[in-house]
Amino acid sequence: MCGIIGYIGHRPAVPIVLEGLEHLEYRGYDSAGLGYVFNQDLKIIRSSGKLNNLKEKVINEGSSLTVMTAIGHTRWATHGAPEERNAHPHMSNDKRLALVHNGIIENYLELKKDLLSLGYSFKSDTDTEVLVNLISECCHSEPDLLHALAKALRMAKGAFAICLMDREAPNVLYAARNQAPLIFGQGVGENFIASDVPAFLNYTRDVVFLEDGQILVAQSGDHKILRLNDLQSVSCETQRIQWSMQAAQKGGYRHFMLKEIFEQPNVITDGLTGRLENNDQINLPELERILIPKRLHIVACGTSYHAGLWGEHLLEHWAHIPVQTEIASEFRYKEELLLDPNEDVVLVISQSGETADTLAALRRAKEAKVKTIGLCNVVGSSIAREADCVLYTQAGPEISVASTKAMTSQMLMLTCMALYYARRNKSMSLGLRQSTLGQLRSLAQFLSQELPQMHTMAKALSRKYAQAKSFFYLGRGYCFPLALEGALKLKELSYIHAEGYAAGEMKHGPIALIDPTFPTFVLAPAESEMYAKIKSNMVEIQARQGQVIALTNPGTDLAADDRWEIPFLPGPLMAFLILPCLQLFSYEVSDYLGKDVDQPRNLAKSVTVE
Ligand code: F6R
Repeated sequence: MCGIIGYIGHRPAVPIVLEGLEHLEYRGYDSAGLGYVFNQDLKIIRSSGKLNNLKEKVINEGSSLTVMTAIGHTRWATHGAPEERNAHPHMSNDKRLALVHNGIIENYLELKKDLLSLGYSFKSDTDTEVLVNLISECCHSEPDLLHALAKALRMAKGAFAICLMDREAPNVLYAARNQAPLIFGQGVGENFIASDVPAFLNYTRDVVFLEDGQILVAQSGDHKILRLNDLQSVSCETQRIQWSMQAAQKGGYRHFMLKEIFEQPNVITDGLTGRLENNDQINLPELERILIPKRLHIVACGTSYHAGLWGEHLLEHWAHIPVQTEIASEFRYKEELLLDPNEDVVLVISQSGETADTLAALRRAKEAKVKTIGLCNVVGSSIAREADCVLYTQAGPEISVASTKAMTSQMLMLTCMALYYARRNKSMSLGLRQSTLGQLRSLAQFLSQELPQMHTMAKALSRKYAQAKSFFYLGRGYCFPLALEGALKLKELSYIHAEGYAAGEMKHGPIALIDPTFPTFVLAPAESEMYAKIKSNMVEIQARQGQVIALTNPGTDLAADDRWEIPFLPGPLMAFLILPCLQLFSYEVSDYLGKDVDQPRNLAKSVTVE
């Protein structure tokens, strides 16, 4: 949800900011801009559309080569259309201050009204232009810009991560955060501020994850971090980033998404490292500090929610823990949570660890004094820091906006949790636990062998079905969440309307839509107790001339328009083979239709607004 970057140091700042924006583009890509001080004037260059448009403008401008401080922004529109005038940075009326902002200032209309009455004027529809003018206004009553910034931020309600520069002091950058990620990268004789680590990882690995309510004042060789409410200094721990920039490159693949799909075997291997203690135990020391839940509430959004729904099956079936999986934006506003701190535990799942609704749900659970577990990919993210305990999925950076390997890594950790609690609850036979652990051990290699054939089949089917206007995805039991995920992937990547259904629900209404132009993707693994049922649902569709792709195992008796056979794995672990097929199919349809695979329209990677 917008990426911001600031650089102050000894190198030409504009190329560094543009390079940083490239790494942040996944966070928003409908417009971009940058700002710097040149010849004692604030210079702002902005452009609608992708970053390349901005780059062209910067090259034509040619004035920036010598500046050593700059700020930049890549936008996912919240207030105002994705036009140049709404792109960041925004300048104060007196042309002294330039601001980049990620988040939403909820009371901006109120603040704007006050500023209008004081004579301020606005060129954009954004909350950011209001904020920069509010800071400017506060300069009249405060001793310096730092105090003015703090005062303005205390007046602003909502979420923000900002970076501010001052025409009168171009050797200082100011940054602050509240409910939106902001990371300080500490170099030698240079400093960075960004929404995410890859923006500056080529230059420094030493980072401070700023906390809500902190202000950073950075110069090239110096910095201080202060509390927003009283401007007292705080000391913050510097952490060293262990993963490399190479992990955030395409590595020869056509798109990040394809690379990330093919990384899934490694993700499984990495996720299991240190977890498989011996042949019948899973090692999850993170959970030892927390009571064994009598009831578990899984809360997440989007793909992470689908992973949660899938995990619900395993936790209930293997560990005998009743699970309720809820959408974070609903959970956070429930009138009554009805949670008992002695019995309930809340598990929030988030790849980014910054999703606004999931973070708010976590905070709501904490207010209810319930223990919380965060299942996150991004180390040091807000959810990872605020949950009572955190399990990291260790999937490495996921750059493609559509989530793929993160879901696999979440499912893997949910499998580990179910096996861990199953042992502690003595709810699963030793034999089943051992055979499941055996399957887990060979899963990565198995998947890695299968991925090339899956890709070939996905490509062939994509050519046949890419012209469809709508799609159903059907599954039962643990395949139902996968059907939801298959449909989500197809719609977000190819803009083809797709819905996932529990197959048994079809005859309660949706089947009315079936005709020869409306294909259905049926998930029908051989062993599932539900096989006979899903077969009947499929026949019902075929009786209405609906075309069917059946994802199944060799030896089943499904007569579909297209049988997609994948090897058999017993039980819900079959999902680790089904999911990549769904991902690859959507990937291929999207690429075939010429869509922007890694950055689909209207989306952003990390949804830090409500
Ligand atoms: C879909 C997708 C989104 C995210 C959702 C939650 O491909 O990526 O649905 O899963 O926005 O994001 P996280 O997991 O970061 O909380």
